[in-house]
Amino acid sequence: MASMKVLLTGGAGYIGSHILVELFGAGHSPVVVDNLSNSSKESIKRVAEIAGKTAKFYLADVRDTKKLEQIFKTEKPEAVIHLAGLKSVGESVTNPIEYYDNNINSTLILLKAMQKFGVTKLIFSSSATVYGDPSELPLTEESDVGLGIPNPYGWSKYMQEQVLRDVSTANPEMEITLLRYFNPIGAHESGLIGEDPNGIPNNLLPYVSQVAVGKLKRLSVFGDDYDTPDGTGVRDYLHVVDLAKGHVAALNCMKAGVDTYNLGTGVGVSVKDVIKAYSRVTGKNIPHKIVPRRVGDVASCYASAKKAKKLLKWEAKRGLVEACVDSYYWQSKNPNGYKK
Ligand code: NAD
Ligand code: UD1
Repeated sequence: MASMKVLLTGGAGYIGSHILVELFGAGHSPVVVDNLSNSSKESIKRVAEIAGKTAKFYLADVRDTKKLEQIFKTEKPEAVIHLAGLKSVGESVTNPIEYYDNNINSTLILLKAMQKFGVTKLIFSSSATVYGDPSELPLTEESDVGLGIPNPYGWSKYMQEQVLRDVSTANPEMEITLLRYFNPIGAHESGLIGEDPNGIPNNLLPYVSQVAVGKLKRLSVFGDDYDTPDGTGVRDYLHVVDLAKGHVAALNCMKAGVDTYNLGTGVGVSVKDVIKAYSRVTGKNIPHKIVPRRVGDVASCYASAKKAKKLLKWEAKRGLVEACVDSYYWQSKNPNGYKK
């Protein structure tokens, strides 16, 4: 496929930095817009070390119409990958206004700029959270959405998807792809880029990796009385490099209308499985104790990954073991993330 100029909003973040590497690898020219509210410009430098090319970087909030329009005018992107947004579930519960403002308005302002400058291709970072409490497993793209979404973060993804479907109806020339990510984990094999959460991690893998390197003492396992094979929660953990490659695959397959894809492995893995795999690959004991369930958690959530395989010709190639190895390598090389 021809090389494209791609605007990446939120490109300095965890997933964005890995997408940057893959876009360079596929011969595209990415340009990043990020307000660095949850990231560091160091990630862009590290991507340059991996890819041998430096992405053009704009320090800007996507909601800043003037700045965004100037960027469209200067860069003339042919496609946009929209990752910018706030993603902490707990914060979204305590500060819903900020979450709806950031996540919904960034999408609206981006769409206006795309229309003004005649850009029709958009890939949007959605989430398995739109399925709420799964009505069936594995989840297919046709499964019910919006039933029992437990928090404003999840609703904001659901609403953004709806906005994009409505915009497509009114503007049939738009080529929109909604990618519903399951649970991205791991890091680039170089150990140069990875997940760098602020404070105590909320998600399982960053927590486990900080226990493994001795930064945190003990993992709390949120419940072992779920209706799952070992009683702990089951999720579809997907290596972030595979996820990033999924975006390049989606870029190759864009067409008018809205296409929706699950990006997952299709395999459900329990919290206990993760602890075992992490201990095995690192040789470290992961001290843990069972505590009550976390509010808002579901027992099991995993994808049917068939549609992406059939139509995008994409599937996850890396397994849990590789994700644990890469996560540990990143965490050991960068115990404080990108902070010196
Ligand atoms: P991240 O926080 O590392 O990256 C998001 C980036 O967007 C950050 O660099 C942040 O500084 C930037 N940003 C936030 N608001 C902005 C704004 N208004 N203007 C400009 N930049 C802004 O998160 P991530 O894990 O890389 O997630 C990327 C996207 O994928 C998000 O939309 C997230 O909701 C979605 N997603 C993530 C997961 C996950 O588990 N990580 C799962 C499903 C969906
Ligand atoms: C979380 C978000 C979800 C988001 C997804 C994407 C919550 C409630 N949900 O989902 O909206 O789309 O990330 O990454 O935060 N666990 C522990 N101990 C921990 C942390 C987690 O036992 O310290 C368990 C959880 O109960 C769950 C599993 O590990 O069974 C995975 O948790 P997590 O990594 O937070 O992801 P999700 O809950 O799937």
